[in-house]
Amino acid sequence: MEERAFDVVTGAFSFTGRFIARRLAALERPIKTLTNHPQRPGTEDIKADPAPLQFTDRPALVESLRGADVLYNTYWVRFVHGRVRFGEAVANTRILLGAARDAGVRKVVHISVSNPAEDSPLDYYAGKARAERAVRESGLAWAIIRPTLIFGQGDILLNNIAWLLRRLPVFGIPGRGDYRLQPVAGEDVAEIATWAAEQVDNVTVDAAGPDIIYYSEMVESIAIAVGRHPRFVFLSPKNTIRASKVIGRLVKDVMLNEPELEGLMQELLVSHERPRGTRRLDNWLLTNADTIGQKYASELDRHWR
Ligand SMILES: NC(=O)c1ccc[n+]([C@@H]2O[C@H](COP(=O)([O-])OP(=O)(O)OC[C@H]3O[C@@H](n4cnc5c(N)ncnc54)[C@H](OP(=O)(O)O)[C@@H]3O)[C@@H](O)[C@H]2O)c1
Repeated sequence: MEERAFDVVTGAFSFTGRFIARRLAALERPIKTLTNHPQRPGTEDIKADPAPLQFTDRPALVESLRGADVLYNTYWVRFVHGRVRFGEAVANTRILLGAARDAGVRKVVHISVSNPAEDSPLDYYAGKARAERAVRESGLAWAIIRPTLIFGQGDILLNNIAWLLRRLPVFGIPGRGDYRLQPVAGEDVAEIATWAAEQVDNVTVDAAGPDIIYYSEMVESIAIAVGRHPRFVFLSPKNTIRASKVIGRLVKDVMLNEPELEGLMQELLVSHERPRGTRRLDNWLLTNADTIGQKYASELDRHWR
């Protein structure tokens, strides 16, 4: 059978997509990307022919996918904002999948999240589960990758914790910080994604790193990496959100919202499978100690303005 010439990655210059793009480059697979941000700093090495990531002009979307072998889909919205709800992200995912099918794409590798559930009270996790169903019903061959918390160049959460640690004499830990998470490297997510693309069967797998750590431990590791030792105080979830709103107003962003905090505290960023990722957060923090948290990373600047 003739091998198809290229793959499509959504958001090849954004966060998770950049790791997938680099992994495909290492495998000598040319890519196209669907994105509205084709020039993000720090991604100058990535070669990807861009087309708009849009859901209103279906024929154009089909054309931008025609001839592709695999669609690596990272598209999602982080939170409900303005008029955008998760239902719209699910509907857009269906449009993208339908366009991929009509364009003759062989397979979709869909990036989901650990522990999605349609009956979750958290809209993010319920929406992700509905998007997964859309993938399974798409008529394409599929693989679903469920990452925990992804770390690497361009991340938001860890970077902004480091940013706060660098600047504040006191740092608030939500609750007692005794809930666990299992960070995974962007490179590991990308390796799992390209492995999944090669599987004959449809697969659903978690992408999680080798270590399960407490939230407070993670904050301490970041503090050690950036060489700052503020006083840690424990805040109730309500006060954490209040504090994050105050800082959010200063930096004109949504730093952390209630459902995100709930998901974290319910340990939804922990996998129940054997870890497939091998890279350790501590090592990454130490090798990136000079850069992490130097600049605030704004979700609203990245995607909403
Ligand atoms: N980040 C994590 O720690 C993490 C953890 C678990 C699961 N995930 C999942 O991994 C996937 C990628 O997440 P990410 O954090 O790496 O995201 P990202 O790269 O910042 O964005 C992924 C894609 O979605 C598009 N997008 C994001 N927000 C949008 C908005 N408000 N309106 C329109 N398009 C938007 C981006 O468009 P542009 O190309 O124009 O930027 C990009 O193509 C998502 O499915 C997410 O749920 C992420």
